[in-house]
Amino acid sequence: MKNYQNMLIVGSQWGDEGKGKITDTLAENFDIVVRYQGGNNAGHTIYVKNKKRVLHLLPSGVLHEHCMSILGQGMVVDLSSLKEEIRQLDDITLTNKNLKISNQAWVVTPYHQILDALREANSQIGTTKKGIGPCYEDRATRRGLKIRDLFDYSSLVKKLDLQAKEKFCLFHHLPEYKKIVEETKISIPSVEECAKNLHSLAEYFSSFIDDTSKYLWDNLDKKRMLFEGAQGILLDPDVGTYPYVTSSNTIAQGVMSGCTIPIEKMDCILGISKCYTTRVGNGPFPSELPTAQASILQKLGNEVGATTGRVRRCGVLDLPLLRYAARISSLTHLALTKFDVFQEFSHHQICTQYRWKNEVYDQYWPFMDWEKIEPIYEEIPAQTLQSMENFQHYIEEQVKIPVPIITFGPNRDQIFYNR
Ligand code: IMP
Repeated sequence: MKNYQNMLIVGSQWGDEGKGKITDTLAENFDIVVRYQGGNNAGHTIYVKNKKRVLHLLPSGVLHEHCMSILGQGMVVDLSSLKEEIRQLDDITLTNKNLKISNQAWVVTPYHQILDALREANSQIGTTKKGIGPCYEDRATRRGLKIRDLFDYSSLVKKLDLQAKEKFCLFHHLPEYKKIVEETKISIPSVEECAKNLHSLAEYFSSFIDDTSKYLWDNLDKKRMLFEGAQGILLDPDVGTYPYVTSSNTIAQGVMSGCTIPIEKMDCILGISKCYTTRVGNGPFPSELPTAQASILQKLGNEVGATTGRVRRCGVLDLPLLRYAARISSLTHLALTKFDVFQEFSHHQICTQYRWKNEVYDQYWPFMDWEKIEPIYEEIPAQTLQSMENFQHYIEEQVKIPVPIITFGPNRDQIFYNR
């Protein structure tokens, strides 16, 4: 693969496309690896020398000694989960020489997690219940806390009180509050308890907390940077399958607000797609397979979410969706993952077009209702797409962007580069 100065990696389906493995493998060639949106709703499973690593908040750069890893300002950070994630990487030493956390990133508080769990009991979006939505919501309502707000204890108590006050009222009025509190044994901390905990976590991480925006800007064009998107384009709140979406911008353009690096600085915007399609949580899924067929894919592909342990819904490759993702996120390249699973089948069904109101379209357009799209399938004999080169040419012809990478297994060496 060409040596890019700045590369951006985004999921081009509903997340879980295998970005972690590709980011981890490519990180070898970069000096800085940056996460810029989302939080510990993400989950990357990476196998290094057959050892399984699961990352939620940390960029894949932490698995490479020479890389600086950055948690950028667009992220929502649960500091206690971060502490636990670092504890589990017990054989990796992280210091401020290889990890920086933006002082402007948003703080996930226990109130966000409780609200997420209570809302989920009533709305069934299928969130990860990590408090991601409520944390971004507080950013918009100007009740959010940035990491830099955690150091001055007395002002922290005031800010947290503003955030908590409304939530306490809301908690008690949400249907089934009592039942859920009893069932889940959720305890709601007082503002003082919560402030003390957050303050001490900030002290714990103080050597890592920095102005990452300036650090990145100062190093732009000097060091090679890899930007690691979380989730997938179809989970974007503006262009995805709303309301069944996450709360941060998962399209490539999210990098601009998420770490203040202009998108034109990216010389490669790499979309990642599985050779089939999966989604966790609820929401429309045009190429979803019926249960019996889906469960074959689930087993073969081990399609279980890294964050919540939920079994992923499975469907066939959806080309109109990929063409839409490529257009909306200005993808310059595409990487395909899990070719080994795809290869197990003796023939392939692929969704090649959508029918909407008796017209046929090559890609999704926002006038279509995701729930009512009629997918058009083509049956393709396995021998036509058997080799990685054949499959690569097929996708390049269909989606009209180069496919330089195909992966065929979970380890770092199970990756095929074509250019
Ligand atoms: P939230 O991000 O926890 O608010 O969840 C909103 C939706 O995004 C749900 O359907 C989740 O299953 C989905 N989601 C969030 N993070 C991921 C991810 O990393 N992979 C796949 N789906 C995700």
